[in-house]
Amino acid sequence: MNFKVQSISPSIGSIISGLNLSEPLAPHVLQELRKVWLQRKVLVFPKQSLTPQQQVDCTRQFGELDQYPFIEGIKGMPYVAEILKLPNEEINFGGVWHSDTSYLINPAAGASLYALEIPPIGGDTIFCNMGAAYQALTNDIKERVNPLNAVNTSNKTAVSKTRAARLGKNIEPDVYTHSHPVIRTHPETGEKTIYVNEAHTLCFENWSEKDSQPLLNLLYQHARKPEFQCRIKWQKNMFVLWDNRSTHHYPINDYTGYRRLLHRVSIKGDIPT
Ligand code: SIN
Repeated sequence: MNFKVQSISPSIGSIISGLNLSEPLAPHVLQELRKVWLQRKVLVFPKQSLTPQQQVDCTRQFGELDQYPFIEGIKGMPYVAEILKLPNEEINFGGVWHSDTSYLINPAAGASLYALEIPPIGGDTIFCNMGAAYQALTNDIKERVNPLNAVNTSNKTAVSKTRAARLGKNIEPDVYTHSHPVIRTHPETGEKTIYVNEAHTLCFENWSEKDSQPLLNLLYQHARKPEFQCRIKWQKNMFVLWDNRSTHHYPINDYTGYRRLLHRVSIKGDIPT
């Protein structure tokens, strides 16, 4: 291996050292790194020095890029979204457990974040391994959820609130709604993962919201077990890349009074099957 890999938790997440992401990766290194990304789902690269263009170029090595639907990119860079919380703001962006853009027909395959300003304490992001969570379901629950689809929408109130402060001036808050399988099969690894999330999933297809809630809640509570998680403690200049098809994440909102700024780049995904 051309780099060092250190697990963050047994289930998910690895710290990668020995690579300089400001330069293109050699094809054999990229191939090895992609394998680790798919297997460990979240890769953390401390102490990188990246301009927005270098973050774009680095992320593009993992797939075609996509624009995040609700935030304008920074000046001249449509793929680079600012994830900013100001000291006087109460609500953080995306602060509900979620998988990115599951309300689109082809939700993001992954994304990267690059840390520019981090509070002195707090503001960590937790990721959970939705493949491990699926495996640990009882056979009875697996049988119940395997055939189901779920309706995902962009305008559930709790998550819409987290975006309100960051909506670009020229961006109309459109509503996107799509149904996807509750259990999806990862297009590259074949792994089955739970694909409903609290931020965007409204109900099971052809079920009422009320009837859907108990089973959805069971899946959410199950998936959040600490055994399936890793916690990223941000440092300035840290670059994190995650696989959005097999993870959920939760940015912790425990740093009100401090500024937190990251740049985010999304990778285009397939239609979940
Ligand atoms: C996001 O959900 O993309 C934001 C994650 C974070 O702020 O840590």
